[in-house]
Formats: sequence, C-alpha cells, structure tokens
Amino acid sequence: MKIAILTSGGDSSGMNPAIKKFVEYSLQKGYEPYFIYDGLEGLIDGKIKKASYKDVGGIIYRGGTIIRSSRSKRWFDKEYRKKAYENLKNHNIDLLIILGGDGSFRALDVFYKEFKVSFMGIPASIDNDLALNEYMIGVDTALNVIRHAIDEIRDTASSFSRAFVIETMGRECGYLALTSAVANGAEMCLIPEVPFNLNNLKKRYLKEINEGRRYFIAVVAEGLKITKKIKEWFEKEIGFESRATILGHIQRGGSPTVLERLRAAEFIKVALDNVEKNPNKIVTYYDDKFILRDLEEIVNSKYELNKEMLELAKHLMGII
Ligand code: F6P
Repeated sequence: MKIAILTSGGDSSGMNPAIKKFVEYSLQKGYEPYFIYDGLEGLIDGKIKKASYKDVGGIIYRGGTIIRSSRSKRWFDKEYRKKAYENLKNHNIDLLIILGGDGSFRALDVFYKEFKVSFMGIPASIDNDLALNEYMIGVDTALNVIRHAIDEIRDTASSFSRAFVIETMGRECGYLALTSAVANGAEMCLIPEVPFNLNNLKKRYLKEINEGRRYFIAVVAEGLKITKKIKEWFEKEIGFESRATILGHIQRGGSPTVLERLRAAEFIKVALDNVEKNPNKIVTYYDDKFILRDLEEIVNSKYELNKEMLELAKHLMGII
C-alpha cells in the first residue's frame, strides 16, 4: 500500500515528530511512505516523492514541518482538484494522510467524494478548535511558548507599575488565551466565546490597587480584535500605564514538547493501524482516548471549551 502524507494550513510544532513516525511506522508495517511537499498546493503541482527513513533523521526536535505547508486557494476550483487526483494516480498513491485543521479536512472530504481518494485526518493546529476533539498537535508547545513569554513579561511588568495586555493567537477560538490565563496567573482573560464585564473587573482592580496591587497581566484572544482598546482601557479607566504585546507567530514555533512528540507518534500509529480496516476517518483525541470519527460528525458539531477551565477563569472575565 502506498501512503502519502501532507501538512496543510498553519504549521504547528509536533508535525515533524508525526512525519518521522509516519515514515518509520509505515516501513515497519510494510507500506510505502510518500511525501507531498507544500500541502494542497504541492498536491496540485505534483510535488510527490517517495520517503525514506533517511529523510526523517534529526527532525524530531524541530518545529515547523519539513514537508512545508500552504493555504491553497486553487483547491476550491475543481479543475485543480482534478489535477491533484491525476498526480496521485500517476504515483499510484492509495491513501492520503493529512495533518491539519477543520478547513483542511473539509478540503479532503470534497476530494474523497469526487474522486474516491481514501484519507485519514490527524488534527494539527495551535488553535485547538476542532469539534469532538480535545487536543491538536501543536497546542502544548504553543502553550509553553506563551507561558515562557508571560513569565518574561512579568519580570518587566513587576518592575514598573504597568498593565501588560498580551494577545494570543487562535483565530475565533479562545482556547490558548483561556488556558494561558489560568495557567499563568493572569488578572484578566478575554475570549470570543464568553461575554465579559469590564465594569466588574474595574471595581475589583481599583480595590486591589488600593490594597497594594502593583501590576496587571491581561490575556486577550486575537479573535476579539480589542487588544489596543483594552490597553487604552487600562490607561483611562484604571489609571495604569500600559503596554500591548502581540505574541504572533512565535506561538507556532519552537521545539515540540515531550507531550507533543508522544501524542504525534500515537496519532500516526492509530491512523496507520486503521488505513485498511477503517479508512476515511479523522483520528480524534477525546476523553483521554483516540477515537476515529467521520468528518460529517465533526462538521455537524461545534467545538466547546472545557467547562472546568471556563469556571476557573470566570473572575478573570468579570463574571461574578
Ligand atoms: O490557524 C493557525 C493560526 O496561527 C491562527 O492562530 C492565526 O490566526 C493564523 O493561523 C495566522 O495565519 P497566517 O500564518 O496565515 O498569518
């Protein structure tokens, strides 16, 4: 069986350990592993190459993806998807493994329905916004990058009487902001999923300043697009000099954490163990187990933030 892997959408740390495991475990099982470079764009352009264990030596600790990634606009055009299909046929590829997010899986689903190209999807994105799934490859490293950044910002914040507003990535999903605010002792956490109350926060902050509070750490999700406003709010309403830090793409990089490397290997194992008996599935991680799901089931559900985590963060949102 010839199996090709590609990485699609925003790269995330842990993709390389997954690629390494894919090659090694495929060879172990007697499958022929292939790389598709540059994601769906590369599939359209026929950038397909047989992979060997020599290609994946020394990549386990590296962030990013050695086979690169892309966000393909051409994929929306059936003519290009046909080209992609012909490229796969010319290389006799039997099944595609895609590492990516919701958008990438939908792209694959269309492809499967049109050309009957079998696939397995593995969730990978720092956003952690896939329904019926609790962990996507890249999330743990991103959380650790944010932790490190907040620790460093706290050094300067605590040396001045200032408020620091830190913007995390995640598109419309507040997972990174929520988890980071709780894990790193922030005073404020604003995310798109939960209505917040600045008046309540103000009352509490003014009281705390009276009691001796000297600085603030606020974590704001990029999806809200209010980072600058919150910085100004601290100045006008709280009377604190403030600075905004947009963490940006550093959250996508960094050496994959131990958890990331282990989970990446497990995702690949589950995918390859099922390519013959149970293909065309997304491998999800849910309730501490790996569960194969139909894309339909995922598409028709909405991701939910962890309720206990939301409970822990309520007072950081001004919810009393
Ligand atoms: O989906 C991953 C992600 O990093 C989002 O958190 C962010 O909004 C987006 O990608 C940034 O996209 P780009 O790398 O294309 O600027």
